[in-house]
Amino acid sequence: MNVRPATAADSTAISAILTEAWGGHIAVAHGTAYDATALPALVAEEDGRIVGLLTYTIEGDELEVVTLDAPIPQLGVGSELLSAAADLARAAGCRRLWLITTNDNLDALRFYQRRGMRIVAVSPGAVDHSRTLKPTIPETGAYGIPLHDELTLELLL
Ligand SMILES: CC(C)(COP(=O)(O)OP(=O)(O)OC[C@H]1O[C@@H](n2cnc3c(N)ncnc32)[C@H](O)[C@@H]1OP(=O)(O)O)[C@@H](O)C(=O)NCCC(=O)NCCS
Repeated sequence: MNVRPATAADSTAISAILTEAWGGHIAVAHGTAYDATALPALVAEEDGRIVGLLTYTIEGDELEVVTLDAPIPQLGVGSELLSAAADLARAAGCRRLWLITTNDNLDALRFYQRRGMRIVAVSPGAVDHSRTLKPTIPETGAYGIPLHDELTLELLL
């Protein structure tokens, strides 16, 4: 597997991954709506196919992971992308990598904490607020869990 920065030639594959995972290109977190197709991205590639996507933004000395998707889980794609994002952040002089996940996403919470990230904030009702910006966010998330809250995780670099 090869992880590399996305290029314009990846736009169709990126769009397909985002649409499949999130119902479109817009990701809403901490009250901000991002067009994920407009963000810098890392892609994981295997045998010439895009098998994973991480979009991010850098502000000051912090890298925020906006989306991370491994359409076929448990093949190491998410780990490779997160590790590459941390390397990229360090190279850019960042001191912190952070992201938002939601209260239902137990798989992601496991995944991130197993990779050294810490939960540093819980925002009750933040997803309910996001739903006012993106009404397609479902009321019920993974495992049938009511979807209400955001959790912030960070990795100090
Ligand atoms: C959360 C997510 C990004 C994780 O990505 P992933 O590619 O499944 O993660 P990995 O395969 O790197 O690691 C997952 C587990 O599989 C294991 N694994 C890795 N390679 C493996 C392999 N070849 N065979 C079997 N297991 C393997 C890893 O050890 C890891 O287990 P661990 O946590 O006990 O160490 C992915 O499940 C996903 O896209 N979820 C849906 C979207 C989402 O929720 N994104 C996060 C939003 S904040």
